[in-house]
Amino acid sequence: MQLRVLGAAAGGGSPQWNCRCEVCRLVWEGDPRVTPRTQSSIAVSVDGENWALINCAPDILKQIQQTPALHPREGRRHTPIASVLLTNADVDHIGGLLNLRESSPFRLLATPMIQDVLRGSPIFDVLNPDHVSRESIALDQPFTLLDGLQARLFAVPGKTALFLEGDRVEIGVEGESTVGVELISGDKRAYYIPGCAAMTPTLAARLEGADLLLFDGTLWRDDEMVRAGVGHKTGQRMGHMSMSGAEGSIAALAELSLGRRVFVHINNTNPVLIADSPERQAAERAGWDIAHDGMELSC
Ligand code: MLT
Ligand code: MN
Ligand code: ZN
Repeated sequence: MQLRVLGAAAGGGSPQWNCRCEVCRLVWEGDPRVTPRTQSSIAVSVDGENWALINCAPDILKQIQQTPALHPREGRRHTPIASVLLTNADVDHIGGLLNLRESSPFRLLATPMIQDVLRGSPIFDVLNPDHVSRESIALDQPFTLLDGLQARLFAVPGKTALFLEGDRVEIGVEGESTVGVELISGDKRAYYIPGCAAMTPTLAARLEGADLLLFDGTLWRDDEMVRAGVGHKTGQRMGHMSMSGAEGSIAALAELSLGRRVFVHINNTNPVLIADSPERQAAERAGWDIAHDGMELSC
């Protein structure tokens, strides 16, 4: 199985268009300790020819341009992208679908609830149904994502997409709104979980022994955006567990046996984005890699 991190940042990207937080400012200034990152998406393949996108960021055009394996290869119209799978309905994960119009065939896969969100926004009707098949994927049922690549969606603690929030928001709900993806090829097992509000014993048990884990790295600490002076929301309120702290992902996953552990969906305020920061060093000491755009992983 080959994976490419197309976009390692969380919603907004790094730097974000309107942000001068401490990290974004360094990126705007071209500081060599930080590299720009686009929004949250990975691509996966088993043969290097046919690819599935998992999540489709508003930056998908740039991501395809920067990834030769995703360039059109033959005839006048072609794409190696055979499938697009969604893990939630956040803007950073669905916005790029609007760029995939123009009538190339692909499968668009998501839970029934996420498919309903797409159907509820008529702008996504730009995806021509003669070419784009929308498939509802039930939780916990194995399905074929690509020839030779089996997948399974499972609920993780999360919340509904920001733009769908009503007056009362349930945080940490487990259902069809926020899912993780299990990828299986031969005897290799990988997980992609870009959004997760909490670690549960069930989730930890599922991940045990995996060859590769790509996990929610949104924030270093829960009140990071408040301290950075860019917002009033905590990570918890946004449906993301933090990396650090007793309840954080580094501690929660420390005892698991994992072939490789990589943080993805990293918010632009997160100090791990700075190459020599104490937070980056602490994460790396704990065995974690910090994803960057173009990162190649295989298992
Ligand atoms: C998130 O991951 O919390 C969302 O992408 C936030 C957003 O929609 O901006
Ligand atoms: Mn996001
Ligand atoms: Zn910023």
